[in-house]
Amino acid sequence: MKKIQISPSILSANFSQLGNEIKKLEEGGADMIHIDVMDGHFVPNLTIGPPVIKALRQYTKLPFDVHLMISPVHKYIQDYADAGADIITIHPEATDNLKDSINHIKKLNKKVGISLNPKTKINVITDFLNEIDLILIMSVNPGFGGQKFLPEVLDKIKELKKIRDQKNLDFDIEIDGGINFDNSKLAIEAGANILVSGTTIFKNNDGNIKKNIDLLKSS
Ligand code: DX5
Ligand code: ZN
Repeated sequence: MKKIQISPSILSANFSQLGNEIKKLEEGGADMIHIDVMDGHFVPNLTIGPPVIKALRQYTKLPFDVHLMISPVHKYIQDYADAGADIITIHPEATDNLKDSINHIKKLNKKVGISLNPKTKINVITDFLNEIDLILIMSVNPGFGGQKFLPEVLDKIKELKKIRDQKNLDFDIEIDGGINFDNSKLAIEAGANILVSGTTIFKNNDGNIKKNIDLLKSS
């Protein structure tokens, strides 16, 4: 079984203190930092872009797990690689040619992540499974932190795990949206090995980040 890793989303952090918040996440045992990039077009919300990510790079050596909710995504991939992303995750709906975008990320020596919205089916990516390092299963409709977990996506995770075993592949399965101390266990049992969490990590137990990360890890 793959090691369970926690990728806290800085979407729920104090945006006036992002550098310090990232340091706290590292001290609290985070395995990577999940950065939600939204463009007000692919999703209704607007967040941060490459200059902010570049400025944050100095605060930690942890991998930057960059979740791009922007469209068209292809022409911006290089900018996120240059800013310091380690994993670049894109949505299939946000590019005209998924194969080209995957190859572009690989050529930049970054890990390739593909994100599936709650309604997006696995068959969209079946042809590319060999090329993908990580599949990010959305358990809310992307756009905002603090939404309610959609349990129906657990079946998709189970199916992906089955396919990974059958085909002897090695991609990570990450889950994103509404993860809390109750459903984290269900996500792991289904086959997720990376848990993204914003609200639960930053707001629970009076914002005790270390405690919240520990609790999620021991789900
Ligand atoms: C939603 C984002 C998530 C979200 C996670 O579009 O991709 O990363 O911010 O936050 P919580 O854990 O609050 O659902
Ligand atoms: Zn995300």
